[in-house]
Amino acid sequence: MSLIIHKLLEFSDLFFIPFCHAPNKGSYSTVPDFAGKVNEASLLVLVISLVLLVLVTGVMIYFAVKYRASKHPLSEKVREPLWLEITWTVIPTILVFIMFYVGWENFVSMRRTPDNTMPVKVVARMWSWNFEYENGMKSDLLRVPVGRPVKLSITSTDVIHSLFIPELRLKEDAVPGMETSMWIFSDRQAEYDILCAEYCGQRHSYMKSRVIAMNREEFDTWYASGDKKELASPDVMAVLDDNGCLDCHSIDGSDLVGPTFKGIYGRQTTVISEGTERVLVADDAYIKKSILYPDKEIVKGFPAGMPSFEDEISEDDLKRIIEYLKGLK
Ligand code: CUA
Repeated sequence: MSLIIHKLLEFSDLFFIPFCHAPNKGSYSTVPDFAGKVNEASLLVLVISLVLLVLVTGVMIYFAVKYRASKHPLSEKVREPLWLEITWTVIPTILVFIMFYVGWENFVSMRRTPDNTMPVKVVARMWSWNFEYENGMKSDLLRVPVGRPVKLSITSTDVIHSLFIPELRLKEDAVPGMETSMWIFSDRQAEYDILCAEYCGQRHSYMKSRVIAMNREEFDTWYASGDKKELASPDVMAVLDDNGCLDCHSIDGSDLVGPTFKGIYGRQTTVISEGTERVLVADDAYIKKSILYPDKEIVKGFPAGMPSFEDEISEDDLKRIIEYLKGLK
């Protein structure tokens, strides 16, 4: 029996995570608790629906043949027996309550954050994820220690996104001006995909990241030094990458959502500002303005929609970016 259930769960994976390249696919003994429970609930609903589908379709075909017009040209007056009406009302009601209970039980445990969680702030923006830790560390990958629950406080700087970790069967919206939360837990070293599950514009499907569950020592080492050093480094690529610039602006000359960075400095650019076009040469002031207040002037031929970096980017980093763009011919 357990083998059959196991096989069915594996089969149900085809529907739930066809796009995951997870190391634990197929071995359910190691899937964190939520995932197993969500699988069970889905399987239960699937089995009940299948049984009902077969039953209803079978009865329908049987009646259609049995009472076909050639055999029964005249319809009879039928009064349904009361017991039948009660049966087909009570049984589905019980089934619905069972399905509700199984879902509810799991939902409650997902919503109830346990004690001693490690808080991580999640900031979503078009089209990247940023994770901020208590000690000020920032990362574009969600690194978590194995065996410790992590509470994610989620928000967005622009439009609605949705933090989706298919393998853990967890999903929560990231809404601008609002803080939502969920908690995650990994009982072993593993990596899980993070996707955006709310259509948020042109590069929605590229808005990806990963959860990296590391063992305690590794995590502590990273937490104590790791990305902080990376961010403080003069490597401008880290700044560009960290702020999600490269999600929309290429450095190789190809146009993505926004114009390419290649050769941008000193380029003649047509911009549209409040409905009127004007041509300018991209200099320091222009580049700075277009990073801090991107919706003031939109480059002709490209959509508006870049978020403002007014409070996001330091003066030093701005200078560093401009210096970098100057050299990118
Ligand atoms: Cu962010 Cu879709």
